[in-house]
Amino acid sequence: MSAMAFEETWWAIADTRFGRLLRCYNELPSTNDFAAALAREGAPDGTVILAAAQTQGRGSRGRGWFSPPGGLYLSVVLRPRLDPGAALGLTLAAGVASAEAVMACEPVEVSLKWPNDLQLAGRKLGGVLVETAAVPGRVRHAVVGIGINANIAPEAFPPELQPVATSLQEHLGRPVDLKPLLRELLERLDAANQALEQGQLAQIVERWRALDGLAGSRVTVVAGEGRIEGDYLGIDDEGALLLRDGAGEVRRFTSRSTIEILVRRSLGEGGEAAP
Ligand code: BTN
Repeated sequence: MSAMAFEETWWAIADTRFGRLLRCYNELPSTNDFAAALAREGAPDGTVILAAAQTQGRGSRGRGWFSPPGGLYLSVVLRPRLDPGAALGLTLAAGVASAEAVMACEPVEVSLKWPNDLQLAGRKLGGVLVETAAVPGRVRHAVVGIGINANIAPEAFPPELQPVATSLQEHLGRPVDLKPLLRELLERLDAANQALEQGQLAQIVERWRALDGLAGSRVTVVAGEGRIEGDYLGIDDEGALLLRDGAGEVRRFTSRSTIEILVRRSLGEGGEAAP
């Protein structure tokens, strides 16, 4: 992104509370790492770190995040009045805000895969990585990292990602404007965070359920070394994932960092299970 594009980006959000807190970079190792370092040094609530590309972008479960120019990569420092147990709610809130922002800006149907994958036509469009630091009884700060595959050509993805990843550009057949998307994202994240602070997790859960892309699926949950296959039952009122296992027991998962969900097939679909 050129200096001119950064200036236009700033203008796009200048009248929001994030306008004076936006910091733009051509390239960073990881916006989450940079934002976390600033947060530890006292960066104020609402600080936004935006990078045109990342060299060591991080995804969930210790994976990398492919971050060439053309994608949207940002991290927001929040200092929410939440107890540490509310971190899952913040992850869901950030996913809802991101999916709704994309759909407000572009004519696409985005769904969510627990807890925070953005999906488009069954492939990965983006993701949210929320990292919190706690002091006893409350969240000291949270870094909400959001990556969206916006203007990335399909052939630019590494071969292993090509079958599972997509971008807005690929889906729409044209590039998208990142500036209104950034604005929508920040405003919706702000509102969702305020809802959480006001104890309205139920509102976030309801919006998350409306976007649930796994509803009615048979899934395998990979948790550490264990694999549990079952019927996906959605999320409960705290945002935990519910699964009915082969013995008919309902299992509940809250860990955001260790679980991977493999979709076997949608219930009602015929044929063999597909990974
Ligand atoms: C996931 O695995 O789904 C989460 C991906 C999160 C990627 C974003 S890009 C901006 C921010 N900086 C990072 O290093 N990661 C997050």
